[in-house]
Parts: sequence; C-alpha cells; structure tokens
Amino acid sequence: MKRDDSEKKRSFTIREMEIGDLGEVYALGQENFKAELWPMLYRSWDEYEVTTLFNTDGEYCLVAESDEDDPPKGERIVGFVLGTVVSKTGSAWSYGYVIWLCSHENWGREGVASKLMDKLVEIMIENEGIRIIMADTDPANDRAVRFFNKKGLTDQKPHLYMSSNLEQNVYYRDILVQYRQENSQAAEQAKRKLRKLILEKRRLSNAKKKASSNKVEIVVKASPKKKKKKKAHTKKKKPKAPRKAKRKAKR
Ligand SMILES: CC(C)(COP(=O)(O)OP(=O)(O)OC[C@H]1O[C@@H](n2cnc3c(N)ncnc32)[C@H](O)[C@@H]1OP(=O)(O)O)[C@@H](O)C(=O)NCCC(=O)NCCS
Repeated sequence: MKRDDSEKKRSFTIREMEIGDLGEVYALGQENFKAELWPMLYRSWDEYEVTTLFNTDGEYCLVAESDEDDPPKGERIVGFVLGTVVSKTGSAWSYGYVIWLCSHENWGREGVASKLMDKLVEIMIENEGIRIIMADTDPANDRAVRFFNKKGLTDQKPHLYMSSNLEQNVYYRDILVQYRQENSQAAEQAKRKLRKLILEKRRLSNAKKKASSNKVEIVVKASPKKKKKKKAHTKKKKPKAPRKAKRKAKR
C-alpha cells in the first residue's frame, strides 16, 4: 500500500558494508530471500554469499543504517544491496549487476531500496564506467518488478530456469550412480582398514601387558657413597716447590 504523503519518512544513512554488519545483513537476507517464496532465485542465499561478496566486491556492498538512536532489535540495518561489475574480455562494455537487494519489512516504501540502488549505480559508474545495469527477479515478485521498473529497468527479457533431479535424469543418472558406488566402496575399504588398525592396536597392547607381567624385576642397588673425611683428620700436604727452584737446589 502506498504511504500517505503527509506521513514523514524515517531517516537512514547509506554507507559501505562493514565487517560488523555481516551478521545482521545475513539475518535480514534470510527473512527476505526465502526459498519457498522464489525457489529459483533465492535458494543460494547463505552466509558464504555475504562474506564472499564482501571480500570480492566490498565497494558494491552497501547497507542502509537507521538513524534512530536506539533502534529496535534487528532494525539497525534496515536494508542492503550486494552487487558486482561484470566486464567481458574483448569488450569495452561492462555492466553492473544487482545481485541481492532488500529492505526490512518494517521499513517498506520508505525509500530504502531506492537510495541503496541509486548509490550503487553511482559508485559503479564512477569506479568502472558501467553502461548497463542489470537485475533479475522472479516474475511473480510483484514488489521487486515494480521497484526495478520504477528505477528504469524496463528492458525485460524472460529467462528460463531449467533444473533436474539427477536421480531421475536420463542423461546424468549413471554418473551419479557410479560416483555413489565408488564412494561407498571407498568408504567400505576405509572402514575395513580402520577395523584392522584397531585390532592390531589391541593385539599389541595385550602383548605388551603380557610381557610386563612376565618381567623379572631387577633392582640395582646403588653402592653407598664414600663418606668424606673430615677436614680435621686430613694431613696437609706440603706445597710442591716450583720445578726451577728444585733444579737449583740439586746443584
Ligand atoms: C522490492 C524491495 C527491495 C523494495 O524495497 P523498498 O525499500 O520498500 O522500496 P522503496 O521504498 O525504495 O520503493 C521504491 C518504489 O518501488 C515500488 N514498490 C516498492 N514496494 C512496493 C510495493 N509493496 N507495492 C508496489 N510497489 C512497490 C514503488 O514504485 C516504490 O515507489 P513509491 O513508494 O514512490 O510508490 C523490498 O520490497 C524487498 O526487500 N523485497 C524482498 C526482496 C526482493 O524481492 N528483492 C529484489 C530482488 S533481489
């Protein structure tokens, strides 16, 4: 539903995503990119998606942060966009791609996604001179279709998603079956090897126990230390005369 124009929109700030935002961004994405809603588009949303794009395309990962002093839990980050720029080798054309875009459900129609998208396009033009901006969504995702249309992305081309369960796939089924067989054989071999090792270890420790119970204990008694003579009983030796002096005396 469109907001009443007299209603004042809340304020937020668009900035680059930081490491401390990753958790909230992931959680917000989970709320929005539900596989059961748009299975073809949203099945690959996971924490790696956020961290990978943050590492590879940090400058195209933006968040909208609420300007409220004490925002409700989970409403600090109220929207985000993750994008990338694709350049074709041999072509001067590069295009910006909006991979993930969403706003918090309590912040719908506040202009969050709009500002995120505007900033993203601006940065992409500045950084890489993009000439095309691209986005995709499920045709049934009415909000998103309207949103992108409003942003001028009106050149629509239907895209066909094709999938197949490999167990029922006449072309690839054999590869899957073969892989599973090999894998289960390898697993069985590894199990056998492990069992062998355990038995060997047990046998060795039993042999060790047996050997130690048969061992004759040989106690080597240390010989008692000689007592030091008391100083008082020892005779003091006369100090030897130096050799030269001795020779002189003989003469
Ligand atoms: C689509 C989505 C990103 C829009 O976010 P938003 O912050 O509400 O969008 P904005 O407030 O910037 O709206 C901009 C325009 O988009 C259109 N729009 C947004 N929400 C709409 C809705 N519920 N119904 C009809 N039009 C809508 C309107 O044209 C709107 O302009 P207006 O409010 O002046 O009429 C948001 O609904 C969302 O997160 N959806 C789930 C995730 C998703 O589908 N992402 C897109 C594909 S990755």
